[in-house]
Amino acid sequence: MTAPRKLHIKSYGCQMNVYDAQRMVDTLAPEGFVETASVDDADLVILNTCHIREKASEKVYSELGRLRVAKDAAAEQGRKMNIVVAGCVAQAEGNEIIRRAPVVDVVVGPQSYHHLPQLLAKAKAGGRALETEFPIEDKFGFLPAPKPAAIRARGISSFVTVQEGCDKFCTFCVVPYTRGTEVSRPVARIVDDVKRLADNGVCEITLIGQNVNGYHGEGPDGRPWPLGTLLRRLAEIPGIVRLRYSTSHPRDVEDTLIEAHRDLPELMPYVHLPVQSGSDRILGLMNRKHTAQDYVDVIDRFRDARQDIAFTSDFIVGFPGETEEDFEATLALVTQIGYAGAYSFKYSPRPGTPAAEMQETVSAAVMDERLVRLQELIDNQQSAFNAATIGQTVDVLFERAARNPGQIVGRTPWLQPAHVMASEDIIGKVLPVTITSLERYSLLGHLTTPLSPSLPSAPSHTVMGA
Ligand code: SAH
Ligand code: SF4
Ligand code: F3S
Repeated sequence: MTAPRKLHIKSYGCQMNVYDAQRMVDTLAPEGFVETASVDDADLVILNTCHIREKASEKVYSELGRLRVAKDAAAEQGRKMNIVVAGCVAQAEGNEIIRRAPVVDVVVGPQSYHHLPQLLAKAKAGGRALETEFPIEDKFGFLPAPKPAAIRARGISSFVTVQEGCDKFCTFCVVPYTRGTEVSRPVARIVDDVKRLADNGVCEITLIGQNVNGYHGEGPDGRPWPLGTLLRRLAEIPGIVRLRYSTSHPRDVEDTLIEAHRDLPELMPYVHLPVQSGSDRILGLMNRKHTAQDYVDVIDRFRDARQDIAFTSDFIVGFPGETEEDFEATLALVTQIGYAGAYSFKYSPRPGTPAAEMQETVSAAVMDERLVRLQELIDNQQSAFNAATIGQTVDVLFERAARNPGQIVGRTPWLQPAHVMASEDIIGKVLPVTITSLERYSLLGHLTTPLSPSLPSAPSHTVMGA
């Protein structure tokens, strides 16, 4: 038997990239690759890159500089180390990477990971390979794209892609260019993936997509199903106790999704709904196609259906032309909504996007100052949201042993990490926890009903078929 080859993969960017990294690992496992945490002993290094902001993109070239040293060191020991650049920078700048970085053997875009074994064979034969085409059927939307099977189970929680790509063309954003047109996977394939994951001990599924509530995959009745209907179907799968989805666009919130939140206890009351700005003028320049009031109305619809839903968002400060008044409208919207948390970014002009051509740029100093003010407001809201849990009893899905000996960590419905002292038997179960204190972003508590061998746990909350 030949010794396993070692694969080191480093991922940047969004959840889709995290998922894709796992997908690449699973694709290469039959080729004899096993994962390694260190670059130095790797036979294959994959950088799974993100193009969303300049800082993210730049990391690729600095990382490639370091990899050149590692590759040379391997060669001195008589070992060949192959370097692959995958992800959204590969898609956007494939030719440039090949030209600028001779250390790179393979450049592969997000639509082509299933071809990695062939691309690597080419590299092994001494060549270099670039594959960044979108499959024809994706481009024209005639056929369902050849989407891969779900990744294998890793623990009790798993991502499942349901849609990829985006047709929204917000003026600041590269995603429609790097991930292509919106494509939804058929319901039957998603159901198969979730069943298989559930059979392997997964009890929480997060449906992912760049614009996940734009989902319109073909249902078993031959008609497109919206996300809410898909969630309803997945909630019926034995063993699945929690469902989540991310990322949503405020324009695509259909009533079926709101009704799913009203009716499905499996659907967690936690929604990431990016708004980007609170100023209608800036939202217009961003091509978001909704106003701040439209966004508030969407939030109200969710809250009317289920009052404990918590929201998170993304914000951009310093979009071209953003005035102090525009920025204050963002602060006012944040104050009005009251978030459980949010990401905020300084605007970064991206080559090829319409906003990059806009002239009225905001100075770096003003952006810095606005970012600090926005983050302070959001941090305060997040701390208040977490502090409100102290003294409450909340359901926690336990995931794994924590770093502190004897502690097990899980998540509340609102994705807050919660730690208790307990035995590992509770992993994979949802149990009520009384929260006693808050340490930074982590909740500490104790099991509300201490487990004893004679006490059966609620069957609907137990992982089945694991
Ligand atoms: N599909 C999601 C998010 C895509 S990217 C959505 O529609 O909201 C994640 C976040 O990165 C965005 O929500 C936005 O806040 C930020 N982002 C995207 N392009 C950016 C840019 N050019 N500069 C700064 N932040 C950006
Ligand atoms: Fe980018 Fe806008 Fe699409 Fe989100 S909706 S991925 S921000 S273009
Ligand atoms: Fe980045 Fe591509 Fe995701 S640009 S945020 S890795 S879709």
